[in-house]
Amino acid sequence: MRVPKLLRVLENMPENNRMRFSVAPMMDWTDRHCRAFHRQLTRRALLYTEMLTADAVIHGDRHRLLGYDPIEHPVALQLGGSDPAKMREAAAIGAAFGYDEINLNIGCPSDRVQSGRFGACLMLEPDLVASLWSAAKEGAGDVPVTIKSRIGVDEQAPREALFALADACAQAGCTTFIVHARKAWLAGLSPKQNRDIPPLDYDLVHALKRERPALAVVLNGGLRDLDHALAEQGALDGVMLGRVAYQNPAILLEVDPRVFAARAPNPDRAAAVEAYLPYVEAMLARGVPLHAMTRHMLGLFNGLPGGRRWRRTLSERAVKPNAGVEVIQDALGAVGVDPALSAATVLA
Ligand SMILES: Cc1cc2nc3c(=O)[nH]c(=O)nc-3n(C[C@H](O)[C@H](O)[C@H](O)COP(=O)(O)O)c2cc1C
Repeated sequence: MRVPKLLRVLENMPENNRMRFSVAPMMDWTDRHCRAFHRQLTRRALLYTEMLTADAVIHGDRHRLLGYDPIEHPVALQLGGSDPAKMREAAAIGAAFGYDEINLNIGCPSDRVQSGRFGACLMLEPDLVASLWSAAKEGAGDVPVTIKSRIGVDEQAPREALFALADACAQAGCTTFIVHARKAWLAGLSPKQNRDIPPLDYDLVHALKRERPALAVVLNGGLRDLDHALAEQGALDGVMLGRVAYQNPAILLEVDPRVFAARAPNPDRAAAVEAYLPYVEAMLARGVPLHAMTRHMLGLFNGLPGGRRWRRTLSERAVKPNAGVEVIQDALGAVGVDPALSAATVLA
């Protein structure tokens, strides 16, 4: 009995390790510039793309939609769709682009997504999700394919809904589930309300891990900071932070030391900004407007003296035509960092 269990644990190790901390997929937020910026704060966290539909991946401008900087690894591509053949093709394209994981979105409640019959409404169709997983896995080859779900939708009983989904997909071969620990209400609540109003049920996510120990289970939803996330993690395989990681990205500086016992890529916030500047310059040279990058950095100095000046300098000046990296350097000056210092630290 003991040996097979140990083998299972060892088999799962690399995946489990990869999953220990991740930044959630967030449409319009976790684009490539955001991810490249987050990489200056954590080298180890798994970063997710925004959701792309299988159709967009197949028919769209692949370079624009799927292109990323090698610094972003490990990076997971999130796909949405409900047609297994399209999912196979989109996953194959994602794997060929070098993504480290393909993730299926079974949790997004927006109207647009429901009319395409994917996202959270697929909680009602576990067998279809299992087929989508199998198809994606065929397309992705060696690249792991994971599922991000809710605990149910509408009138579903969460325990039955979550276990039915996990069991159907586990039978197909899926070993990793990221669970946003609340239901989605498909009618009546906006996507934003659906991230706050349905109550969180972390116990149910723990029950999934306890009763299906061979599965890797990651907790998402309402985790306020790293202390809270690690306290709630318990026996789970990882935690995923969304809004707080985006709005208060300095949290990510703690991830490598505290979660992975490794050094952060930069010693502090200001050093992370300076390390990001060559990327910004390269993107400006390719015609990307400064604002497309600085918009992800606005919350970096939250809670520190000068945090407001940082935010204001970036939001007012980065949108101007021909705005360049000097705006970011001036913003660092406004926050109390001497941009001439090579290993910059916050002086205030
Ligand atoms: C602006 C925004 C966009 C989002 N887009 C996606 C998405 O594309 N795919 C997805 O699975 N979840 C999406 N989510 C949900 C998050 O991934 C996450 O599950 C949710 O915000 C709960 O985690 P949090 O409380 O840590 O933010 C989005 C959330 C936000 C705030």
